[in-house]
Amino acid sequence: MQEPPRLADAESYQGEAVPIPNGPSALLVYLDSAARRLTTPWQICMIRAELLRNCSLPEGAILDPACGAGLQVSALANALKKDVLAIELNQERAEMAAANLAQISTWLGNEDAGSVVIGDGTNSDSIIKLFETKKQISLFYFDPARPSGSTTHELSEMRPLLNEVLDAWKNHLNETDNGPAIVLDLSPRLSELRRSQVEELIEERWPKIAKTWQWASRGSGRIDRLSLWLGAAADSQNERRFIRIPPSIHSEPLILGSGEHSFSNPTEDRTFPRKGEVLTMLDSALVSSGMASSWLETVLQEGDEFQWQNITGRRPIITHREPLSFEHPLDSKLIQASGRIASLTRLPLEIEHLNNFVEKAIDAGIGKLTLRVSIDPDLQPVIQRELDIRLRRSNGAKTGFITRASEGDHLLLCVDE
Ligand SMILES: C[S@@+](CC[C@H](N)C(=O)[O-])C[C@H]1O[C@@H](n2cnc3c(N)ncnc32)[C@H](O)[C@@H]1O
Repeated sequence: MQEPPRLADAESYQGEAVPIPNGPSALLVYLDSAARRLTTPWQICMIRAELLRNCSLPEGAILDPACGAGLQVSALANALKKDVLAIELNQERAEMAAANLAQISTWLGNEDAGSVVIGDGTNSDSIIKLFETKKQISLFYFDPARPSGSTTHELSEMRPLLNEVLDAWKNHLNETDNGPAIVLDLSPRLSELRRSQVEELIEERWPKIAKTWQWASRGSGRIDRLSLWLGAAADSQNERRFIRIPPSIHSEPLILGSGEHSFSNPTEDRTFPRKGEVLTMLDSALVSSGMASSWLETVLQEGDEFQWQNITGRRPIITHREPLSFEHPLDSKLIQASGRIASLTRLPLEIEHLNNFVEKAIDAGIGKLTLRVSIDPDLQPVIQRELDIRLRRSNGAKTGFITRASEGDHLLLCVDE
């Protein structure tokens, strides 16, 4: 038999406070090892809060029906100056969340005006009855538990289940002309198929609701967070958003928006890279978000055009005529490398042919050449070391890289721009 829901008491949590992950070191919160693994880094909590500050949200409380240690809901409620209704199945973690809500509210100089409930997030009727005045919801924020080793990322793996939690709270959500405000924090590995399944669940309940998919990355080509922003929380201008999270918590993120995902297929009708063109290797997280084309329009020089050479894998590549021009400090973090093609060769990257590459590099004034191409992982460090040794004597002032635009193509020697 399921226990009836009850309010969690912040005083009951007895753990030791620790500096909040990825946030100001003076802000202390309560986390055990399991909660630390599940929790949203503070920098991301605050970036999301800032994005929501620009939305016109309905009145009411921030609902988090699976709040974990409560960091995200506490950030949202404090930044948006709203009441909290947070629910957590695990008693100890719910008490931890209540203690965190109090800590974070005090730190941000706000009254602690929220409630954490120990209970099942789908049990809305009994939870609502705990309060004297009827709770109405401004924003539904949901970050379900997921099995850690999942490879399929099926919606049936979420706890609580997305469809059940939506049905439980649907009638409690206040709405604006744009519908309710909903943010779903999903697995960053969700495939296109799973994404469309999520959209279907939403559209069954709110047909025609505005949607913004948001990819967030800390770099190295990895998508760290994938979320879906709906209704009053969506960005009406953009169906997709890409956020490059800055390395420092004191810097601003780079936020890119784009209407629709459009790629020209790089394998059909591709013109092969030519000597003198600029080759740019893009951040693969940006490319998988589908937003590379619209970002490129902002950094290509006037009159220049680009061609996709490769959109898949760890090294998506374009070619163009002129160097890219960056305005935002994080623009340069959206490329892995960019260089002018100095020569093309059919020779394989093997020790016996290495002098050929070294001579071409010296001719191009290169003193340091980096391998940016897939080769046998045992051979890679050997070849890289040999190139370093042989080029050290050249005194070339420039740097460059070796890559291949697409499987089966020539190898390209590029001088860094
Ligand atoms: C990914 S964590 C949430 C992390 C949180 N957003 C944060 O920033 O710390 C998901 C939580 O959902 C809880 N949970 C799982 N099933 C639940 C249910 N039916 N009702 C309420 N909470 C549930 C888990 O115990 C877990 O703590």
